[in-house]
Parts: sequence; structure tokens; C-alpha cells
Amino acid sequence: MSEVDADLRGGADFTANPYPYYEKMRVAGPVHCVRTDEFDRVWLVVGYDEGRSVLADQRFGKDWRTLPGQTGAGDPINANMLEMDAPDHTRLRKLVAREFTPRRIEALRPRVRQITDALLDAMVPAGQADLVDAFAFPLPITVICELIGVPDLDRDAFRLLSNGVVSPAGAQENGDAVRAMGGYLAELIENKRRSPGDDLLSALIAARYEDEDALSPDELVGMAFLLLVAGHETTVNLIANGVRALLENPEQLAALRADFGLIDGAVEEMLRYDGPVETATFRFAREAATIGSTAVAAGDPVLVALAGADRDPGRYPEPDRFDIRREAQGHLAFGHGVHFCLGAPLARMEGRIAVRALLERCPGLVLDPDAGEPEWLPGMLIRGTRTLPVRW
Ligand code: HEM
Repeated sequence: MSEVDADLRGGADFTANPYPYYEKMRVAGPVHCVRTDEFDRVWLVVGYDEGRSVLADQRFGKDWRTLPGQTGAGDPINANMLEMDAPDHTRLRKLVAREFTPRRIEALRPRVRQITDALLDAMVPAGQADLVDAFAFPLPITVICELIGVPDLDRDAFRLLSNGVVSPAGAQENGDAVRAMGGYLAELIENKRRSPGDDLLSALIAARYEDEDALSPDELVGMAFLLLVAGHETTVNLIANGVRALLENPEQLAALRADFGLIDGAVEEMLRYDGPVETATFRFAREAATIGSTAVAAGDPVLVALAGADRDPGRYPEPDRFDIRREAQGHLAFGHGVHFCLGAPLARMEGRIAVRALLERCPGLVLDPDAGEPEWLPGMLIRGTRTLPVRW
């Protein structure tokens, strides 16, 4: 690989606002060799066309078990479809997709509404709140736990573990969280096996016994992990980042308040403008390839900066402007290609219901003027703040 042209390890400015960095790189070219916490050298793709084509190109693989010397590949939670290539990926995705149909998701709408209303009933009388803690976090975690069939999850402990997995402060925290999460899920699956319910996890456990395409025990843990973590770490930040963008752009907020018919487009723009997943997960070149005009060798790691691609002026004019009426469709916030987010319909539904209900119940909603600088989640995977203090 060529010389590193940017060191992206843990810079506070970069974490708080990576967009100017991505822009500066994009002006110089769509693909850069950078240093991250995980790799001394990795190809970072910041252009929209190049990023989209990498995500669609199966020459860029995900199954690190096929590369020698990788750590962590033996953890059961890594036996999940996001870390696999065809044919395993296809088999696992098919098994869960049939339990995750648009009809099943649509059937959740009244329950999502009910959970939203109950959270707002508890929050609204106080006149102020940390929106993450009171609303943006409990909504998606409650929904995904009910869908999967986790009735009495210790949510605060789970939140810490889950944060430790996707936004760790370091390798030690990550390793500990991965092991604890694996143990927790194996126990949960054992309980479900003994007393199955009418839920997704029970259906997947049954599929394990009856299907020739069935899940292995590790794959079951990996699936539960992926659905639980992907189901809430992301949506919490769709709601929080989206509300922040609205409150920082009062004319856009006013337009939405005046016409809630704009909510679907507003949520797409929230995803494009400041989406919850800053970079896709790492891929590696399974053979020599080119990205744009950059030659990439077999085995090289590749990272697509979704947040960079979605601010590419070649795709979105005036990309740094938050505009809920723009044609934001085609953004890469949910990824692209075979790993396109399985939960996108659920996330969209939750985001639309949550933001609209919040604005309706809190007519004077503003960012808390006394709140200091927000603390951004570390790492380049998840983009969001730990808290979002607001008043109304
Ligand atoms: C706003 C919320 C969400 C965003 C922005 C988001 C984003 C993403 C992205 C970018 C990927 C692809 C990563 C890659 O290719 O490296 C992905 C994959 C995935 N997401 Fe989501 N996600 C969200 C919500 C959800 C929800 C609610 C679920 C539900 C259970 C979910 C389940 C999954 C799964 C299972 C995959 C892996 C799909 C595969 O490998 O085929 N996501 N998501």
C-alpha cells in the first residue's frame, strides 16, 4: 500500500465533526490510504460513486476468517451475516429475512406508537430532558427486544455492553464487552430453547432443528447479537442526530412543523446529512482491484466512509446544507449491495413516528442552552453523542 496520507486515530476534532476532514480528502481524490485505530494502513473511500461501487462489488469481502492472522474471528458473536460472504451470508440472511418481512414490520406500527406515547407521557411534564436517555435510546431497544423476544433484559447493563462492542474506548473494553455479550446471549438462547415464545429468536432456534439451511449454535448467538446491537445502536442516533439537525436549523424545523407530510423526506435527509453509521464495516480486497483509479492489492483492508460519500457534492448539491425537501434518496446511510441494512424499514418507521410525535408533544422544543459541548461516541463506526439535553 502507499504512504499514509491521514492519521485518523482518535482525534477529538475529527470525532466531533469529521465532515471537513472528509471534504478535504475528497477534494484531493475519492480514495486515500489512512491510519485508523484498527489498521496502520487502510483504503478510505470518501467519494459517493466509488463508495457505492465498493459496497456492491463482491470482490471486496467481509469474512475475515478467510484471512490468516485475524484476531476475534473465533468469537461466536462474529459468526453473524455482516461478517460473512456468500454462500454463508446468503443462507443466514435468507433465514432471518423470512422472519423479518415488511408485513411483520408493518404489524409493529401500533406497538411502536404505543411505546413512543408512553415514553413521551413520562418525559413531557418535566419540561426538560436528556433526549437520548429519556426517548431515543429506550424506544428502539424496547422495540427490538420485543421483536426478538427478550422480555426482562437488563437494559442499562446491556447498553453499556453494547456501547463497549460498537464504540469502545479501546481494545481491552471491546474484548471484554464481546465476551460478556457472547455469554449473555448464549444463556438467553438456552432459556428460549427451554421455553420458546412467539418471537423471532424462538423461530430461529426452531429453524436450527428443522432446516437443512439451519443455524449452528455460534451462528445463533451471532444472529441474536447482530439484530440486538444493530437494532438499537443505530436508531437511537437516527433520532438524536436528526432532532439535533432540526433544532440547529430552525427554518427546516418550522417547515416540518407546518407540514408533517414532509416527515418521510425529513428522515431521509437526517440519514444523509448526519446518519448514525459513519463508516461501513471493514472490507478487504479478495483479489487485486481498482477503486476509481486507485490500485488495491489482494488482502488490503478497505473502509467506505458513508458520511463522506453522502456529503459528496457530485451527488448532492450543497451537501452541507440540511434541507428536508431535497431528494435525499440514494444515500448510503443504510449501506448498499448484499449487506444493505436488513432493518431499514423498521428504522425508518421508528424514526418517522418518533420525530413527529416528539415535535407534536413538545411545541417549544429547543437545545438546552446551558448544556456544554456534547460528548461524541469514540471510533469511526457509530456517529452520535452520549446525551442530547433539550427543553420545551
Ligand atoms: C437508522 C438506523 C440504522 C442504520 C443507519 C443502519 C445502517 C446499516 C448499515 C450501513 C449496514 C451495512 C454495513 C456494511 O455494509 O458494512 C447495516 C446492516 C445491517 N443492519 Fe442496519 N441500520 C439501522 C438499523 C437497523 C435495525 C433497526 C436493524 C434490525 C434489526 C438492523 C439490522 C441490520 C442487519 C441485520 C445488517 C446486516 C445485513 C447483512 O449483512 O446482510 N439495522 N445497517
